[in-house]
Amino acid sequence: MNSKALPETFMRGGAEALLASLKEARGYDWIGIYVKKGDYLELALELGGTASHRKIRVGEGICGMAAKARQTVVVQDVEQEPNYLACFPDTRSELVVPILGPGQEVLGEIDVDDDQMGRFGLEEREELEQAASLLSQDWEKIKPNLFSNSYGAASPAEGPK
Ligand code: SME
Repeated sequence: MNSKALPETFMRGGAEALLASLKEARGYDWIGIYVKKGDYLELALELGGTASHRKIRVGEGICGMAAKARQTVVVQDVEQEPNYLACFPDTRSELVVPILGPGQEVLGEIDVDDDQMGRFGLEEREELEQAASLLSQDWEKIKPNLFSNSYGAASPAEGPK
């Protein structure tokens, strides 16, 4: 994907289109956005299946590690990562990139799972970091819609209060 493709997709179709285009272009198994609420990350949008871990405490799992460190975490072999929380039996590698606000605070994360070991190289990482930066720039507009779109992950009981 060229570097302009993501901003254009995002401008036209918002967060869902952005994720769908990344998933399709790379053939990832699953991609989602978690939103940080207090000490937890809540799954707000997902494509490619229904993940079992929908609310993750900061510091726990790969998602929680990335939020705590405020840095991208790439796990090339999830079986070697003791903190890994399994969502899908086939997943072998995972990348989590935090969506950071203007003060470097964590707003949420993009999480990607794939069934191929070592799936995430520098190119994939930079592309997903670019996507996180696009989401961050428009976060206040995106956030209210995340839980209520057609891919809506959270059930009403788990949705925003
Ligand atoms: N594997 C993640 C949990 C989320 S699912 O992969 C979608 C983790 O260890 O935090």
